Amino acid sequence: MKIAFFSTQSYDKTYFTRYNTRHELVFFEAPLNEKTVALADGCQAVCAFVNDELNATVMEGLAKTGIQLIAMRCAGYNNIALEAAQKHIIKVVRVPAYSPHAVAEHAVALILTLNRKIHKAYNRVREGNFSLDKLIGFDVYGKTVGVIGTGKIGEVFCDIMKGFGCRVLAFDLVANRGIEAKGVHYLPLVKLLPQCDIISLHCPLTEQTRHLINAETINLMKPGVMLINTSRGALIHTHAAIEALKTGQIGYLGIDVYEQEEKLFFHNLSEEIIPDDAIMRLMSFPNVLVTSHQGFFTDEALTQIAQVTLQNIDDFEAGKPLVNKVI
Ligand code: NAI
Repeated sequence: MKIAFFSTQSYDKTYFTRYNTRHELVFFEAPLNEKTVALADGCQAVCAFVNDELNATVMEGLAKTGIQLIAMRCAGYNNIALEAAQKHIIKVVRVPAYSPHAVAEHAVALILTLNRKIHKAYNRVREGNFSLDKLIGFDVYGKTVGVIGTGKIGEVFCDIMKGFGCRVLAFDLVANRGIEAKGVHYLPLVKLLPQCDIISLHCPLTEQTRHLINAETINLMKPGVMLINTSRGALIHTHAAIEALKTGQIGYLGIDVYEQEEKLFFHNLSEEIIPDDAIMRLMSFPNVLVTSHQGFFTDEALTQIAQVTLQNIDDFEAGKPLVNKVI
């Protein structure tokens, strides 16, 4: 099959070319949206990523160019108009799991960096400043950690935090009996929030979870709470988080995802004027750490993403059951 890859970076080309044996791969740096959909002309499938815009208009454009399959090279699919895909008889497949350890470990990296101020220490010593002033942190051991969403990534995260000697509380629509057996306690969200020193988000973005963290839920949290989001940006109401950082209600914020990340993340904008005031305000706080959606970015995860995506495409071409189909 001829497959149009959108939003590609050098590492996408490296991993997909390494594992591809039979398809013609065409790589575009441009994101998939209404302006770029025509690039898929002549292809039978598109391979898209987290910030591509697969809305109803794009779906219509894809159908016109003869696209039969959308192969997402990620787990989330909140950016796809599924009804429109169905209407145009376009199948959607994804990579439901690729190293949950990669994302869970990144969440822990954000916690430790923010707490022990490693980012500041790194810069200080490079300038010959060996002072410890203002670098004081806290023991993670013995702290209460709240985990929202205890699927594949949330479960690994719970295991790691248990290993640190934390008390782990969880909120999910469906309890994960495996982690309950390991001593994780489920509570309703309103009961969990006031008890936690650290809260980490691991649920998908849905209509129900959009702005789950808002002014009201932030006010239920312990003053000075550490909030970590490696899931999807819109789980947090950005302006409510900024206000809470200003008052100290949020004591630390670690985000690998951001509500308006499409125009920023994965691009080198170091020589540009960035018009997004919210991200600039966030980055101005000394207790905020932003990484640009790199939770998944390990060799193991990239290998699985390429292999599973190519297998999904092979299965579609061979008319086999699509084990990783969204619709
Ligand atoms: P999963 O599907 O295994 O687990 C998600 C959990 O969230 C499930 O247990 C589900 O019941 C729960 N959930 C759903 N709706 C909920 C709600 N309203 N309230 C509370 N819990 C709810 O997904 P997985 O693999 O653990 O991934 C979690 C999220 O991590 C993905 O949806 C994605 O947004 C994000 N992700 C981020 C990456 C990164 O690079 N930063 C990479 C991969 C995933």
